[in-house]
Amino acid sequence: MSADIHSQALAKHFADLIRATGPVTVERWMADCLGHPEHGYYITRDPFGTDGDFITAPEVSQMFGELLGLWCAQTWMQMGSPNPVRLIELGPGRGTLMADAMRAAKALPAFVDAVDIHLVETSPVLREKQKETLSGYQVNWHDNFEDVPPGPALVLANELFDALPIRQFIKSQISDKEDVTWLERLIDLDPEDGSKFRFVASPGPSPAASLLSIDLDYNPDDSIAEMCPAGLRLAHTIGARLAVQGGAGLFIDYGYGQSQTGDSLQALLGHAPHPVLEQPGNADITAHVDFSMLARSAMEAGASVHKIIEQGLFLTALGLDQRAAMLKSQAPTDVVSEIDAAHQRLTAPDQMGTLFKVLAISHPDLDALAGFEDIT
Ligand SMILES: C[S@@+](CC[C@H](N)C(=O)[O-])C[C@H]1O[C@@H](n2cnc3c(N)ncnc32)[C@H](O)[C@@H]1O
Repeated sequence: MSADIHSQALAKHFADLIRATGPVTVERWMADCLGHPEHGYYITRDPFGTDGDFITAPEVSQMFGELLGLWCAQTWMQMGSPNPVRLIELGPGRGTLMADAMRAAKALPAFVDAVDIHLVETSPVLREKQKETLSGYQVNWHDNFEDVPPGPALVLANELFDALPIRQFIKSQISDKEDVTWLERLIDLDPEDGSKFRFVASPGPSPAASLLSIDLDYNPDDSIAEMCPAGLRLAHTIGARLAVQGGAGLFIDYGYGQSQTGDSLQALLGHAPHPVLEQPGNADITAHVDFSMLARSAMEAGASVHKIIEQGLFLTALGLDQRAAMLKSQAPTDVVSEIDAAHQRLTAPDQMGTLFKVLAISHPDLDALAGFEDIT
């Protein structure tokens, strides 16, 4: 089935739903565009690379996964070298990060012996890719994090949380007599063209807005506040597991270190911005991750939180410069410039260096995790 036919089927699905039950939340729109079991973006394609819609850090350079593999090996030693240890990746894409991590981790054979790989992936197309990439390893797949067998764990998630659906709220005044409040941002059919969609506000205040960490009073009218219930639930579940069964988690994504307002919902098609409400399911849809909320959720579940730092600082602290220099010393000239470009892309402030953040959470007995200890 072609991408256009999937998109038309999704548009009909939303139109039917809206006619039957009224406007849908942004959360529902994002969840179905990305994960509808038949027509969702991730269910129907491999979206990576120059021919796809976007590129992620593990696809930019092998150095990213290698450094994360060494981080896992070192953290495993800090955990007391448990055997087995579940090495869990959430939303592993093409499996590139895991393959690079395992190759680098061979420097510590006892760690590789102890590792039991678990991938949490909802896309059948990407599961097939991961099977190819990781053909040399024994791998277990799951639909949900909760299905991974118990035990001490290392949990990695790169660009997973930005794909989890968000709710949006708009600061508004319903009438002259009413106070300002948060209304929920919804999606309705356009009355002038029933085949198009448009944003509207809920007719009354949204009770869910009471869970926002943004203060209503300090933001101008029409400000948009966001919340990611699925992300908060997942951070809580991972935190609860690590706090009881041991281990650590590393979450890398683009987003805010501190909660703030702003409409961060965006779609990408062929590496270019695309209107969020056009061709549903045909473009990637993401939103900024609110790292302070994720950290709070994990902490409430009993896990320790190890700062939120920028990706550039984190990779540099793990030895990116040295790894790049080593690869360059063995590479032909054209590859040397590719390594330099990848290094820049991962760390430069105008590329992925500062927009992308890293959050580590762990069992409370683990302190001074690699990459976080010297950062103030
Ligand atoms: C932006 S990609 C990131 C892939 C990979 N981590 C990387 O850095 O290249 C998002 C990944 O999360 C997966 N995914 C999306 N929603 C998911 C969910 N609810 N549970 C598990 N995986 C999900 C996608 O299929 C894809 O593998």
